[in-house]
Amino acid sequence: MSSSAGVAVERPGAALLEAARQELLDARPLGVAHHERASRVLPRGTTRARFWEPLPIYVKKAEGAYLTDIDGRDYCDFNLGQGALVLGHAHPAVVAALESQLEKGTHFGPPTHNRMELAELIVDTTPGADRVAFVNSGTEASMGALRIARKATGRSKVGKVEGGWHGANEFVLHSFMTLSGDVGRPDVNLDSIGVSSVATDNVIVLPFNDRRAFDRIREARDELACVIIEPVLGGGGCLPADPWYLEGLRAVCTEIGALLIFDEVITGYRLGPRGGAGHYGVTGDLTVLGKAAGGGQPIGVICGRGDLMDETMWPASGSPGDAVFAGGTFSGNPMTMAAGVAMVGELVHHPEHYVQLEELGERSRVGLRRVASDLGVTVFATGVGSMVGVHFSKVMPSNERDLLSTNHLAAHLLRVYLELDGFVSRGVSFLSTAHTVEDVDRFVAAFERALRRLRAEGALEA
Ligand SMILES: Cc1ncc(COP(=O)(O)O)c(C=O)c1O
Repeated sequence: MSSSAGVAVERPGAALLEAARQELLDARPLGVAHHERASRVLPRGTTRARFWEPLPIYVKKAEGAYLTDIDGRDYCDFNLGQGALVLGHAHPAVVAALESQLEKGTHFGPPTHNRMELAELIVDTTPGADRVAFVNSGTEASMGALRIARKATGRSKVGKVEGGWHGANEFVLHSFMTLSGDVGRPDVNLDSIGVSSVATDNVIVLPFNDRRAFDRIREARDELACVIIEPVLGGGGCLPADPWYLEGLRAVCTEIGALLIFDEVITGYRLGPRGGAGHYGVTGDLTVLGKAAGGGQPIGVICGRGDLMDETMWPASGSPGDAVFAGGTFSGNPMTMAAGVAMVGELVHHPEHYVQLEELGERSRVGLRRVASDLGVTVFATGVGSMVGVHFSKVMPSNERDLLSTNHLAAHLLRVYLELDGFVSRGVSFLSTAHTVEDVDRFVAAFERALRRLRAEGALEA
């Protein structure tokens, strides 16, 4: 064990990982039993194995900012369904909307009134959105947006930034965490086995927050259909785009006739009612939404300029092969629409929520930085509004390359120690309107305890 006197005790990473794993197993006996059973039918007990190693939290219930697991342990949740629940778990307005829809029926096929209502809310708030199409996930939405771009431009290639995440859409399932090549001209690396070479051959990976991206786009002017980008890299570590970078992308896309697609699956209705586009004052030709837009139900949204949406989605004449296909059995389903109207409506009609979210996010970042500085530990807190990243990198990260120096052992142990202390946070944290200032202060205090322990164990030297 670590020295209580605070003298660093060197222990190899493997021993620390094993000790942390054992502590989690001891703390959650019912979770362990569940995990063994689940692992027989689900890869490592969950469909997102890497996410929750070494032992997923098996959730019993959740309300507001809190989760309870099947062992009866409570956690203050800074993950919130991978960032979807901007109002927290089981918000009364969302629950009431779902209950009301449940009584009327859950799935029809023909559209319902609430589909139109959610589309109206999105058009009223999302910069550049004249028309909306609903699908079931952010992945599907990004796929549809790329198809619209190819149809509109007659070109095939897609530009995406290093560290950008757009879901399991294989055209952009590249160079998220797999980084190599010249910093200004990154390699196209696979993020998954099994991706078609057609996809790989049609991706151009752009450096993030780096002017060389503009030259790369100009070079590809005859073949580039679009550039897709998150205004703030979410899964990539809560790294905000520099304003000049987004403005430059906007200008160079217009110059070469390629579309700029904002992936606002995380930032939409999280950074403000107008999302990242509103935050930066830069408008994409198309916007992809997900997560919060569905009020905690599965959703993807493609929206944007009317000419693009109309001409490519619903051509007045021609064969189906002339139109872009986006949709599916459950697209625009009434349960999702009901939850989406409730959540988005609540956020849009009560701008004070965003004041609170901004305050909580800033208080977290300031608190985390203060603790790190007091302890003399190199840790960086990044993010905007209610998105908060914590990095054990050697430099303040402004792009994914800066994160190559991350101490992964410390990052992993931090997550486990926070869980043992009653907090869910995966390095990337999200806040909700259900969180309080006290929750944030307790989180910062838990972070301090974890940092002290990591330092005492020698894990910060790695
Ligand atoms: C920015 C971004 N785009 C797209 C997606 C994919 O959305 P989904 O998981 O709903 O397919 C995600 C998911 O985390 C995301 O963060």
